[in-house]
Amino acid sequence: MTFYITTPIYYVNAEPHIGHTYTTLVADAAARFHRLAGGETFFLTGTDEHGDKVAEAAARRKMSPKEYADHISGIFRSTWPRLNVATDHFIRTTDPAHIRAVQHILNKVYEKGDIYFGEYGGLYCTGCERFYLERELIGGRCPDHQVTPVFVKEKNYFFRMSRYQDWLIDHIKNHPEFITPERYRNEALSFLSEPLEDLCISRPCSRLEWGIPLPFDDQFVTYVWFDALINYISGLGYPDSANFQKFWPAAEHIIAKDILKPHAIYWPTMLKSAGIQPYQRLHVHGYWNINESKMSKSLGNVIRPLDLSETYGVDTVRYFLLREMVFGLDATFSEEALIARRNSDLANDLGNLFSRALTMLEKYCNGVIPQPGPNEEIDDILKQRTLEASGHYGRHIKEFAFHKALAEIWEVINHANKYIVRTAPWELAKDEKDRGRLHTVLYNLTETLRVIAIQLSPFLPETAGKMRTALGYQETERPAYADSMTWGLFSPGRTLKKGAPLFPRLETTKKVVEDTAKEDPKVNKETAMIDFPDFQKVDLRVAEVISAEPVPKSEKLLKLKVLADRERTVVAGIAKFYKPEEVIGKKVIIVANLKPAMLMGVQSEGMVLAAKDASGLRVLTVDGEAEAGTRVS
Ligand code: MSP
Repeated sequence: MTFYITTPIYYVNAEPHIGHTYTTLVADAAARFHRLAGGETFFLTGTDEHGDKVAEAAARRKMSPKEYADHISGIFRSTWPRLNVATDHFIRTTDPAHIRAVQHILNKVYEKGDIYFGEYGGLYCTGCERFYLERELIGGRCPDHQVTPVFVKEKNYFFRMSRYQDWLIDHIKNHPEFITPERYRNEALSFLSEPLEDLCISRPCSRLEWGIPLPFDDQFVTYVWFDALINYISGLGYPDSANFQKFWPAAEHIIAKDILKPHAIYWPTMLKSAGIQPYQRLHVHGYWNINESKMSKSLGNVIRPLDLSETYGVDTVRYFLLREMVFGLDATFSEEALIARRNSDLANDLGNLFSRALTMLEKYCNGVIPQPGPNEEIDDILKQRTLEASGHYGRHIKEFAFHKALAEIWEVINHANKYIVRTAPWELAKDEKDRGRLHTVLYNLTETLRVIAIQLSPFLPETAGKMRTALGYQETERPAYADSMTWGLFSPGRTLKKGAPLFPRLETTKKVVEDTAKEDPKVNKETAMIDFPDFQKVDLRVAEVISAEPVPKSEKLLKLKVLADRERTVVAGIAKFYKPEEVIGKKVIIVANLKPAMLMGVQSEGMVLAAKDASGLRVLTVDGEAEAGTRVS
């Protein structure tokens, strides 16, 4: 069985965050599972580098679009292996082979009579790189970027997408698995219940030069979405490559809900026009939010995957993201939840099972798998439960229910932990006559660990590797998925090698994510009145800044030493507006009796007051002289 899996190609106007990471990890886990099951697999990711957005981001940094794209694309490319993501190819839309493939498709579609020249005026959002219809806006603004789109009127080339509307409706209806989960299939059908407009597929070079020239008119470049979607075939070497022939019939795309329309509507109709069969399946997942709000650069709450993996380890990040999100629905990221899962699921459940079993095998059997005797009922239940779980697990992965596949493994882990408690091998070890029974129990435990190591390998490749080493596999030896559905593959006499704990206690209490003081959304500051005694509870003081330094890994925070009623450390979110040397010596106003809070690993004992408007942020100071520590009332 061949399997071809893709992620969206990410824009190079931002660095990788946990949203991109989730999609890429899902693709990696799916690809690893198919390799484990013996299928020939191709996994593609990459970067989307043309278009207004990238040209603008480059101009802001005074770089050429290509220089800028090289830089950010390089960050994406080097991030994935550090999260143990094993891709087969990394595509860039600036690759010459991709450019040739785009021009090839454009020619085909043009020759088919599906491209015409016309004029179009409409509301255009640069953020989305697309025109909006009035009815699609919310309060006159783009629903994604909350900006008012500008009216743009120009002559352009159009793709006759409308011609394929009926075909596409039939295709979606006849192939229930074409778009999953079902809510997104329904959303696509609902777009198609309105007449489909033709798609503007060019931009005049007078307005945008950073794109792929149309092969039939060099005064225009290709619209970035028409260019980008073609990566899914150019990445296989389309038009003339064996890989395209082999893998395209097995194509499965993964995206989040934000880019459903281009993938569910534009892409299949483009393929149809070019005479290429549609992809097999489109898997659509929800959005990661941070503390109930959207993750965005402007809110300053973007979470970088490598910050997390450096602190908690790669497998903790992989496990958390894949376990926490129900594929298709939105999820909330919180560092507390990540730490909790690491401590309970990884360190306690899995880590303890593994180290208890191996310690007992070492202690009672000199680290050699013993010869088992006949199974009792409790042993058969463990065996059955473990093998059954492997079957369910495979089905969940094929259905893209990764959280369920992981939950299935953890049921086995928890069952095995209870098996240890119930069979109490340490009691059996006390009496020579129970030796046979002890060996049976320990044999069954190694078999369970063998199966768990196989099941974990698509999700936690590093941990699964450590488990294999401990279970006596050679470095290059890889058991297959089928081996997780057979009992008794380990021969007695096999030597084990107990290693270090899988998930050692973390030394750090460091927090990677900045916890910014959250305002209570229920309080309306403009209408809420407080009594004077309430105000009196706030201990405001003059504080002289003695020293200031940036907080490592934070763009927003400065760590200040201030002298107020006493010397205090105060973390202030002012780094974007003040250099450390600019605040030293200033007499600022602090709230001195705010409960201490940890901000990026630094304990803050107060809050600096500041005024913030659209032009920036300014700290409050006193007019004239006032001693440090003076009360403000
Ligand atoms: N370049 C286009 C895609 C072209 S594909 C032919 C693009 N790029 S993007 O950088 O904006 O990436 C969007 C994708 O990143 C989403 O579809 C999703 O896979 C991932 N995510 C970005 N933010 C996300 C969340 N907050 N949550 C989950 N996934 C998110 O669109």
